[in-house]
Amino acid sequence: MDATFFIALVVGLLFVLSSRTKAETQYHDFVVQETPVKRLCRTKNIITVNGQFPGPTLEVRDEDTLVVNVLNNARYNITIHWHGILQIGTPWADGPDRVTQCPIQPGASYTYRFTIIKQEGTLWWHAHSQWLRATVYGALIIYPKLGSSYPYPLPKLEIPILLGQWWNLDIISILNQATFSGGAPNISNAYTINGQPGDLYRCSNKDTMKFYVESGDRVLMRVINSALNQQLFFTIANHQLTVVAADALYTKPFTTTTLMLGPGQTTDVILVADQDPRYYYIAARAYESAQNAPFDQTTTTAILAYKYAPCSGQMGTSFKPILPNLPSYNDTATVTTFTSQLKSPSKVKVPTNITEDLFFVIGLGLVNCNPGPTCQGPNNTRFAASMNNISFVLPQTTSLLQAHYQKIPNVFTTDFPPVPPLRFNYTGNVPRALWQPVSGTKLYKLKFGSQVQIVLQGTAIVSTEDHPVHLHGHEFYIVGQGFGNFNPSTDTAKFNLYDPPRRNTVNVPVGGWSVIRFIADNPGVWLMHCHLDSHLTWGFGMSFLVENGPGKLQSVQAPPLDLPQC
Ligand code: C2O
Repeated sequence: MDATFFIALVVGLLFVLSSRTKAETQYHDFVVQETPVKRLCRTKNIITVNGQFPGPTLEVRDEDTLVVNVLNNARYNITIHWHGILQIGTPWADGPDRVTQCPIQPGASYTYRFTIIKQEGTLWWHAHSQWLRATVYGALIIYPKLGSSYPYPLPKLEIPILLGQWWNLDIISILNQATFSGGAPNISNAYTINGQPGDLYRCSNKDTMKFYVESGDRVLMRVINSALNQQLFFTIANHQLTVVAADALYTKPFTTTTLMLGPGQTTDVILVADQDPRYYYIAARAYESAQNAPFDQTTTTAILAYKYAPCSGQMGTSFKPILPNLPSYNDTATVTTFTSQLKSPSKVKVPTNITEDLFFVIGLGLVNCNPGPTCQGPNNTRFAASMNNISFVLPQTTSLLQAHYQKIPNVFTTDFPPVPPLRFNYTGNVPRALWQPVSGTKLYKLKFGSQVQIVLQGTAIVSTEDHPVHLHGHEFYIVGQGFGNFNPSTDTAKFNLYDPPRRNTVNVPVGGWSVIRFIADNPGVWLMHCHLDSHLTWGFGMSFLVENGPGKLQSVQAPPLDLPQC
C-alpha cells in the first residue's frame, strides 16, 4: 500500500470516527410516578419523574438527539415540554397538552424524539398539563458541540439552580378548587432551591442545599425559574454575579447583585469565590407587581460554602451564613435596571421587513357570574385572562396540531385578531364594561418565513401586573419595552435593532409593554402564553399556526405512531 494512500485512508477513517463522535443520540426513560417526599415537617405524595425531585438533569451537546420514553405510572394525564427547545421539524415532540398532543394517559407511554439544532446553554423540561409542573421538572443543559466552547473562560464548577414553589396540599386539588370556585388559587407554602426550601423554614435545616467552592473558583450558576406562579428575585450574599446568558442565548456580560426571573426563564451567571472563606446564603423570594394580590412572602435559601471555612459542617451552632439583602417584593425599579442591561453579545440580525405587525393586549379579566360557590372571584365574578380579549380554551377531543395536520374541522378557527377588537386606555382607569373577555379556540396563521412583530401590551384590568410571556417553537428579539401604553410614533424610534436580547420568555413590565420580533420559520402549531400557570388556566394564551414552507424539510411531517390520542 502506498504511503499517501495509507495516510489518506487513516485521515479518512479518523474523519469518519470524529464525525461519528460529534453528535450522539441519548436514550432516557422517564417514569412518571407518585412519590412520597418530606418537606416542611410533613410527608406528602407528589408526582415525580423516576422518583426524583427535582427530576433528572439532562446533559446534552448541541446537535445531539434526545429520545425520551415517558411512561405514565401516575393517576393523572401528563405531557412533557422541553422548554426553549426549538423543535425544528419535530412539533409533535413539543408537549403542551392538547396543543401539540393529547396527554399520555395513566398506564400509557409516548416517546419524545428531537434534535438540538444550534442551541446551547441552560434550558429545562417540565410537565405541560394541569399544574403538574409544580413537581415535574428538571434541568436540560446543552453544552457546546464537541470542539467548541463557551464564549468566556471555562468555569471550574457548574451548578444548576432550579427555583421552585412548594404547596403542602396536593397541587391538583388546589387547581381543581380554584377552577371550581373561580377565585384565586392558594398561595404556596415555600419556595425551593433544587427541591429544598432551606433553613429559614421549619424542619428544613439539615436538607438545605449546600454548594462547596474553594477560594478563587470561577463558578457557572445556571439559574432556572421553575416556580409555578411566581416571578422571583435571586441573589447571593456579598457576591457579584456576571450575567452571561439568558434562556440559552448568550448575552453581553454585565455585573449585578440581583437577578429577576419570570417562571420559564433561565439566567447563567459567573460567580468568583473572592470573599472571606465562610458561608453565604443564596436566596430567592417573590417579585410581586400586582396590587392587593396575596402571595407567598417567604424566602428560600441554599448555602454557598467555602471549603476550609472555619467551623464548616457545624451549621447553625457557631457559624451562621450571611444573609443577602433582597429587593422589596414590589421593587420594579430593580427589575427594570436588570432587564434593561440584557443585550445580545454583538450586532444581531433583527427582522426589519415586518410582514405581520401584531398588537396583543394581554392580562387578566373578570367574568360575571351568579353569586355562589362557583363565583368566588372579586365582587361576584370568576377570574379570567385573555389576549386580545380572547380567553383561550383548549380543545377536548384532539390536539390543535393534529386537527391542523389531519384537517379535522370545528376544532379551532384561525381568526385570532391581529389587533385588539377595541382600542382603549389599556393601563389607565379601564371601564368595567371592558373587563370581561370572551372564550375561544382561535389561532393566528403565519405564512412560513413571516417576519413578525408583536406589541405585547399589558392592562390595568383587575390590576397591572408583570407577565412572563413564553413562545413555543421560536426565539424572539426583545426590541423595546416600557411603561404605560405603547405609542408607535414615539416608542418605535427607540427600538434597539442593533443588539437586542434574544429569549424565549419575556417579562412584560407591570402596566407596560414589550415588543418582540421573530421569523416564523418553524411549521406547526405553537403556543404563546403567560408562564404563570394560574393565568394560563384562566385563558392567557393563544397559538400560532405556522404554515408549511416551500422547502423539503419545511412541512409538518406525519406524527409518530405512538402519538397519544384523546
Ligand atoms: Cu415552559 Cu408552554 O412552557
